[in-house]
Amino acid sequence: MDLQNKYIVLTGASSGIGEILMYRLLDEGAYVYAVSRSIEDKIDINHERLTTKNLDVSKLTNVDWLFNEVIKTYGRIDLFIANAGFTYYEMFDNADAKHIDALFDLNTRSVIYSAAKMRETYPNEPFGFMSTLSAVSYVFMPGYALYSASKAALHAFFESYRLELTRKDQWLYTVYPVATQTPFFEKADQERKPWPVQTPQKVVNAIIKGLKKDRQKIYPSKLFKYSYRLMPWFYKIYLKREAKAFHRIIKDKK
Ligand SMILES: NC(=O)c1ccc[n+]([C@@H]2O[C@H](COP(=O)([O-])OP(=O)(O)OC[C@H]3O[C@@H](n4cnc5c(N)ncnc54)[C@H](OP(=O)(O)O)[C@@H]3O)[C@@H](O)[C@H]2O)c1
Repeated sequence: MDLQNKYIVLTGASSGIGEILMYRLLDEGAYVYAVSRSIEDKIDINHERLTTKNLDVSKLTNVDWLFNEVIKTYGRIDLFIANAGFTYYEMFDNADAKHIDALFDLNTRSVIYSAAKMRETYPNEPFGFMSTLSAVSYVFMPGYALYSASKAALHAFFESYRLELTRKDQWLYTVYPVATQTPFFEKADQERKPWPVQTPQKVVNAIIKGLKKDRQKIYPSKLFKYSYRLMPWFYKIYLKREAKAFHRIIKDKK
């Protein structure tokens, strides 16, 4: 996809991967409609191709509003990037119904709903839809049971949905970052990041390259991409180590 003059919606653009991606998309010549719950309070720049709006996309009525508003503003949406997401770091025993709803509403339900809206809006036209998944879509981490489930569900959804789309110009992009240096972990009250750790710039470089080359599955860490396939035994040992670390952290927190 050539990004010049494309109309792009980006969720979760006030911080981390989304914020850096927003600036890169502008540099590439795209128009960006960027949303998060607090973006208008955090990002204070004037750019002729940028619109920012405070919006909670975990509410599906807000997603409806977003589609209507962007189409009213830009005339169309070429690419929707569902990037907003968060995690808890907790023993699953402690996860109450509120946590389950909050996490799946944003990480999974809102993304699938937005993908459906994109297709409903453009049944017979080209479009792109991207979602930031995670390495935990494949490797299920202790402390992140709900989060892993939310991203694995998205992975399953996009793998199936890709097989259903028959047009060659309707692209579903999925991105699988490993642990990335953003406020994501601190927001979950967790300083320890699981190995390996990468910069958000690396993730954004991989996204831009992937979009330009129409690579539908984007793995910013080559180490993860190849080791996961070639060394499954390594991840068994790795997850045992992670489980020990998790129990230590939970014990220390008590
Ligand atoms: N960091 C990692 O290690 C890592 C690894 C793999 C995948 N990911 C995924 O990458 C994506 C971006 O994460 P990040 O690392 O950049 O984290 P981040 O720095 O915490 O950014 C999350 C973004 O989502 C927005 N957001 C949260 N709740 C929202 C809501 N209800 N409605 C709209 N926006 C909302 C936040 O802004 P507001 O607070 O203003 O709403 C923020 O802009 C997420 O989907 C995450 O799951 C992250």
